[in-house]
Amino acid sequence: MMDWTDRHCRFFHRRVAPSALLYTEMVTTGAILHGDLEKLLGHDASEAPCILQLGGSEPEDLARAARIGMDWGYAGLNLNCGCPSERVQKGAFGACLMREPELVAECMSALRSADPQASVKHRIGVDGEDSLEGLLRFIEVVARSGCTTFVVHARTAILKGLSPKENREIPPLKPDLVREAKRAFPHLTVEYNGGITELAAGMALLSPSPEGLPGCDGLMLGRAAYHDPWILRRFERRLADLPEPSAEHDVAERVEVIDALEDYYQRELRRGVPAKTMARHWHGLFHGMPGARHWRRALSEGESPAATWAAMRRLARDPIETTEKSASPSSSHTTESAISVAESDTTRTNASQM
Ligand SMILES: Cc1cc2nc3c(=O)[nH]c(=O)nc-3n(C[C@H](O)[C@H](O)[C@H](O)COP(=O)(O)O)c2cc1C
Repeated sequence: MMDWTDRHCRFFHRRVAPSALLYTEMVTTGAILHGDLEKLLGHDASEAPCILQLGGSEPEDLARAARIGMDWGYAGLNLNCGCPSERVQKGAFGACLMREPELVAECMSALRSADPQASVKHRIGVDGEDSLEGLLRFIEVVARSGCTTFVVHARTAILKGLSPKENREIPPLKPDLVREAKRAFPHLTVEYNGGITELAAGMALLSPSPEGLPGCDGLMLGRAAYHDPWILRRFERRLADLPEPSAEHDVAERVEVIDALEDYYQRELRRGVPAKTMARHWHGLFHGMPGARHWRRALSEGESPAATWAAMRRLARDPIETTEKSASPSSSHTTESAISVAESDTTRTNASQM
């Protein structure tokens, strides 16, 4: 997700969800062909498998960018046909490509020259076009390129009049159209994206609907994975038929993630990466749990993951004792606010469960 995710985010998500397929944010062909490749494509080998998402509409440029991307060690490629931003429209790619399925087929042939499994991410349609016929025609034409994987953000995009944010919220989700696409093309892989914030709702999309429409072949999570990354671990467990862990076991698993983050954090600090550049992506680890706000605040104040966790444990063991001991002017602010925060987080969790 542009402006949200980056390599530090993906390092974290990989620890949380060892078997998920991760995607980069969209990187344009222009950036790859003329920009700083280390900055745009550099990543940690342990993020694998990770798909590089490309933005562009010139098949030759896409073919060159695709080869460069694969040389940088990505597991595969994906073409963005879903982004509705003004900037992207000016470049004539992203969601407006939905109007030109033949051109998308050419673009996919270009990507497939570097990655035969390359996939496409798209909307149901653009500018009020949200018919099943339009969606099926898009898929049918693009599939002629040999592309077999379609990730469908299950809403239309309004290119004039709605901001990108509104275009992720206002046009209604139409999950049944994605299921219909799967029914029409059983030999293709049709994955669902859009609005998944809970395990049960996501799992339901993988099974046939009560009306007899087939389940989707996979799920892509965007915003929920960023704000509440542990949802990815819950999906992993469910998909592997593992039982719900005890509260202690669940915390122990999060601590394993913190240990990995700490090693990474110290290593990247030595490479000159600012603490906040990395840690801003890790704020959601305790989303919805007591102590979540302390975790977020300490990380954003530059504490390391391990030091933050150690402080959270001290507070949980003996909050009053810890407050008194740390009543020096420099440290009292963080500790006291952490205690009040732990309370308000609990309140918020209860409220959201109602
Ligand atoms: C800040 C932000 C940036 C995004 N950037 C991209 C992007 O680079 N490529 C893309 O395919 N989708 C992008 N998206 C859209 C998401 O991938 C996803 O399709 C959309 O948010 C709906 O899924 P969700 O409800 O699970 O978030 C972005 C979303 C957000 C919130």
